[in-house]
Amino acid sequence: MATRVVIGTQWGDEGKGKYIDILAADSDIVVRFSGGNNAGHTIVAGGTKYALHLIPSGILHEGTTCIIGNGVVVDPAVLIKEINELKDKGVNTDKLLISDRAHVIMPYHKRMDELQEIARGKDNIGTTKRGIGPAYADKTERCGIRMCDLIDEEIFAEKVRANLRIKNAIIEKVYGGEGFDADSIIAEYSEYAKILKKYITDTSVVLFDAVEKGKNILFEGAQATFLDLDFGTYPYVTSSNPVAGGVCTGAGLGPVFIDEVYGVFKAYTSRVGAGPFPTEQNNEIGDKIRELGWEYGTTTGRPRRCGWLDAVMLKYAARVNGLTALAINHVDTIGKLEKIKLCTAYIKDGQKVDYFPASLKELSKCEPVYEEFDGWNEDISKVKSFDELPDNAKKYLKRIEELVGVKIKLIGVGKDRENTIVVD
Ligand code: GDP
Ligand code: IMO
Ligand code: MG
Repeated sequence: MATRVVIGTQWGDEGKGKYIDILAADSDIVVRFSGGNNAGHTIVAGGTKYALHLIPSGILHEGTTCIIGNGVVVDPAVLIKEINELKDKGVNTDKLLISDRAHVIMPYHKRMDELQEIARGKDNIGTTKRGIGPAYADKTERCGIRMCDLIDEEIFAEKVRANLRIKNAIIEKVYGGEGFDADSIIAEYSEYAKILKKYITDTSVVLFDAVEKGKNILFEGAQATFLDLDFGTYPYVTSSNPVAGGVCTGAGLGPVFIDEVYGVFKAYTSRVGAGPFPTEQNNEIGDKIRELGWEYGTTTGRPRRCGWLDAVMLKYAARVNGLTALAINHVDTIGKLEKIKLCTAYIKDGQKVDYFPASLKELSKCEPVYEEFDGWNEDISKVKSFDELPDNAKKYLKRIEELVGVKIKLIGVGKDRENTIVVD
C-alpha cells in the first residue's frame, strides 16, 4: 500500500494535473481534498487535452475511483457540466464519489465574490470569482450548506431561506447589488440534487476501508503552498489549506497513513491574480517565458505573471509540507532561454536571508540573489532518463536539489503524459 500526496509548491498551475494523471495509473483511488473550481488541471493524453476543475485528475484511468472530499467546495452546475463533457469524450465517470460533508457553492457566493472584489478596489485579490472565498467563509460561519443538505429537500429549502434573509440584505444594502429569489434557487438546485444524489456518500469511510485493504491512494492538491490560507502570501491567497496537512482535514484520513509527499514546481515561477512575487520579471523576459510556456490560465484564461524559479520558496514548501520528493515541469520551456536565473536567497536590509517572511512589508524589502545558468536549446521532449539530458539541464536540476535538500523524482519535458522522466 502507498498513500501519496501531490501538492503545488508555488502559486498554482505547476502541472499537478499532469502528474496526478501519471501517478493515477497505479492508484486505486484519487482524492481532491481542498479548493473548488478555482482549480484548472490540464492533462494531455494521446494528443487530447482535458481541463479539469472539480473532478480528480485520475478520471482517465478506467479502474480508478475518484473522490471529491469534504474539504472541497462544490458548484453543482459546474460539476454536472464537467461530468457531461467527460462523458462526451468517452470517459467513464461512474467511479466518482462526492463527500456528503463537502460544502455547496451557492449563487449568492459567486455574487458576493464579485461584489467584494469590486469593493476592494485597487487592493483586489484577483480571485477567480467562482464563489470560493464566500463559500468557505460560510462554512466557518456555520451557515454553509453541505451535499447531505442539498439532497434533503426540506432541509435545503429551510437553509436557503434562512441564508437569503441575511445574504440579500448584505448584497443589497452593503454592496448595492441585486438579491436572489429563494424559490428559483430551490427549484434550480433540486434538479442538481437529483443528478448528483447517486455520487454522494461518506467518503471518509470509503478511504479508511481502502487503507485497511492495502489499496494505493493518491491525494490531488489544488492551488498551492503560497496560496494557502495560513502559509501563503496572506491576504493574497485562497480560502482553504492546499498544503499537505489539508489532506487530513479535507479528506478525513489520519496523518499516520501518509507515506509520500510530492512537491510539484515549474522550472520558473508563475502567478495569476494579485500579490507579491519577488522573482517576477515584469519585462521582456517574463513575456518570453509566458509565450514559450503558454502561461494563460486554465480556469479564467488570464495571462499568468512569470518570473525566475525561487529556491527560497521551494525550501519553505519542503518544510511546511514535509516533501519527500520533487516533481519539476517545463524543463523543455526554460531551456529555450539563452540565460536562466535561479534565486538562491534574498537580501533584506543589507543582510542575506534564506527564509520567506510572513509580513508582506518585510517581503517587499527582499531583493533576490541570483545564480546564472546557460540554457540548452534542443528538443528534449523524447528524453527518458536523467543521464540523457543536456549537461546544462543536469547542472540546473542538481543545483535545485542541492538548495532544497529534496530529490527530484519526476521531470517534465513536455505537455503530454508521455513527456516525463521518472528518475530511479
Ligand atoms: P495545474 O493547475 O498544477 O494542474 O497546472 P495547469 O494545468 O493549470 O498548468 C500547467 C500547464 O503547463 C498546462 O498547460 C500543462 O499542459 C503544461 N505543462 C505541464 N507540464 C509541462 C511540461 O513539462 N512542459 C510543457 N511545455 N508544458 C507542461
Ligand atoms: P490550480 O489548482 C493558480 C488564485 C487566484 C487568486 C487567489 C484567490 O489550477 O493550481 P480564489 O478564487 O481561490 O478565491 O482566488 O488564488 N488561484 C489560483 N491560481 N492556480 C490555481 O489553482 C488557483 N486557484 C486560485 O488567481 O489570486
Ligand atoms: Mg491550474
